[in-house]
Amino acid sequence: MVALRFASFFLLSTAFTVLAAHLPSRDTAPAYKGPTPAPISLSSWAETQLTAVIKASSAPALNAAFDAFLSQGVNITFNNKPMSRATYVSLRLNKGFSPSASINYTGAIEVLDVANSTQAGMVALFFSDRVSSAVESAMNIVIAPDASLASHPGSDSRRVISINQIAVGV
Ligand SMILES: *[C@@H]1O[C@H](CO)[C@@H](O)[C@H](O)[C@H]1NC(C)=O
Ligand SMILES: *[C@@H]1O[C@H](CO)[C@@H](O)[C@H](O)[C@H]1NC(C)=O
Ligand SMILES: *[C@@H]1O[C@H](CO)[C@@H](O)[C@H](O)[C@H]1NC(C)=O
Repeated sequence: MVALRFASFFLLSTAFTVLAAHLPSRDTAPAYKGPTPAPISLSSWAETQLTAVIKASSAPALNAAFDAFLSQGVNITFNNKPMSRATYVSLRLNKGFSPSASINYTGAIEVLDVANSTQAGMVALFFSDRVSSAVESAMNIVIAPDASLASHPGSDSRRVISINQIAVGV
């Protein structure tokens, strides 16, 4: 009897192990492929991600840069109008790719949600960028860990959940 119970327990747990190994991963969000996550400040993090967006040299690289920067559900206000993530991405995509694309930051301040934790907070950036034409921007962003990405150990799950940008020369 004991042997039978043990055998059925063994079969059951083997079945679960086999099943678990074949179940698709619940987390299908793209893995973070940017620079070393480390506890860099929120404003440095934001500048690194945004620079990758401006300097991306191909459509796949641009999508990867946006995915490392913006939450999939990011709320965007652009020149005082709501804008979908897809439209925001297409604004950049439509400028094409240039090896001489550049972005210069002229100011940044940040306020952390929790003292000494660089996981969440607000950042304001002033910058000028040029891909096909010169654009001047002021951007306020809210950054928070994206729970759907947190299961990747060692990865940086910080993403922008809200953008309020004013831009001249778009
Ligand atoms: C934050 O870090 C500073 C400098 O290391 C320290 O003096 C301060 O106590 C820390 N604050 C908290 C809330 O951990
Ligand atoms: C950024 O600064 C560099 C060096 O001064 C300059 O060559 C480039 O044109 C600037 N880019 C923008 C978009 O202002
Ligand atoms: C965007 O705004 C909606 C409505 O306020 C909110 O439900 C959603 O959580 C926001 N998105 C993010 C990524 O915070």
